[in-house]
This record gives sequence, C-alpha cells and structure tokens, in this order.
Amino acid sequence: MRPREPEALIDEEAFADDEFMPYWAELWPAGLALAEALPEDLAGVRVVELGCGLGVPSLVAAARGAEVTAVDWADDAIELLRDNAARNGLALEAVHADWRSFDGEFDLALAADVLYEARNVEPLVRLLPRLAPEALVALAGRPYEDEFLQRVNSEPVAERVVRITART
Ligand SMILES: C[S@@+](CC[C@H](N)C(=O)[O-])C[C@H]1O[C@@H](n2cnc3c(N)ncnc32)[C@H](O)[C@@H]1O
Repeated sequence: MRPREPEALIDEEAFADDEFMPYWAELWPAGLALAEALPEDLAGVRVVELGCGLGVPSLVAAARGAEVTAVDWADDAIELLRDNAARNGLALEAVHADWRSFDGEFDLALAADVLYEARNVEPLVRLLPRLAPEALVALAGRPYEDEFLQRVNSEPVAERVVRITART
C-alpha cells in the first residue's frame, strides 16, 4: 500500500521544522532498483535500510530471511511500513529515527535515493561504513551523488546501484 497522492501530504509547518518534505510517500525508481539488486539469500543477515520511505528493499530483504531494521524520520512512513510488513506476513523492525543520530551494528546497510540534498552527504559518508562493513546504495542521478562517490570506496554492482566498502 502507498499514498495515492503524495503531493497532498505537503505540510508547511512540517517544512518549517527542519525542511521536512514527504518524500517518503513516493515509490522512487532507486528503491525498486535496490530491491532488485539484493542478494537472493539473506538468511540471518542483519540489514539496516536508511531513509527507507515505503521500504520496498526492506520488505524484500525480510522476505529473503534477513533481520531487517528500517529507519526513516517520517512517522507516517514507519507506520505504513509496519502495516505493509504485517500485510505480507513479514517480520521487520521499523524505527522512527533521524540518521544523523542513529547507530547500530549490522552486516549490510541499504539506502536508496538519499543523496538529494547537500546536507545528507556528510552524515551518510560517516554513518554507512560505521553501521556495516558493506553497503548497497541506489543512485537516482541527484547532483550531490558525485560528491558522495568521491568520498567513499564504491564499485557498481547493478544498474543504479553501487557497493560501498570501508577504505583500506
Ligand atoms: C527520496 S526519499 C527515498 C525513499 C526510499 N528510499 C525510496 O527509494 O523509495 C528519501 C527518504 O529519506 C528520508 N530521510 C531524509 N532525511 C532523513 C534523515 N535525516 N533521517 C532519516 N530519514 C531521512 C525521507 O523521509 C525519505 O523517506
């Protein structure tokens, strides 16, 4: 399930508070590309998805046996993802959090279309390698993706998707 009209969710008060926009409510192509690029077998793998929005990669990872934590700062995204997981008989943890203050220990980090604002680059460059030894990041052709890619160790693994590993 997803909101029929994401634009109708724009709220000027929420924007005034930390420039919040309801980007979570769109089914972005990068999210689908990331879901398609996931390994077939994720049994027992501890996966975290940052800025999950509708959380298609999280749902697919959970269906493939991963222990999934999906993170977004949009309350409504987290509530809807919990509903969608239940609707599909999947177990995952959906957490309302700002990635600028999120931490944890995982085997694989995921993020799709999260580099659409300059302010997102620095926290994600720092956080992704701290959360997991490997991350799969799906790109959406946003201008700030180049800066991110210059600062991390990345290799392409599928259309739109790069694998990030710690610098050696
Ligand atoms: C362009 S959307 C992409 C959503 C989803 N990953 C996809 O590809 O369909 C960006 C997402 O990042 C979330 N987000 C942005 N800044 C965030 C932050 N500081 N902490 C947590 N989530 C954040 C937004 O709420 C939104 O769901």
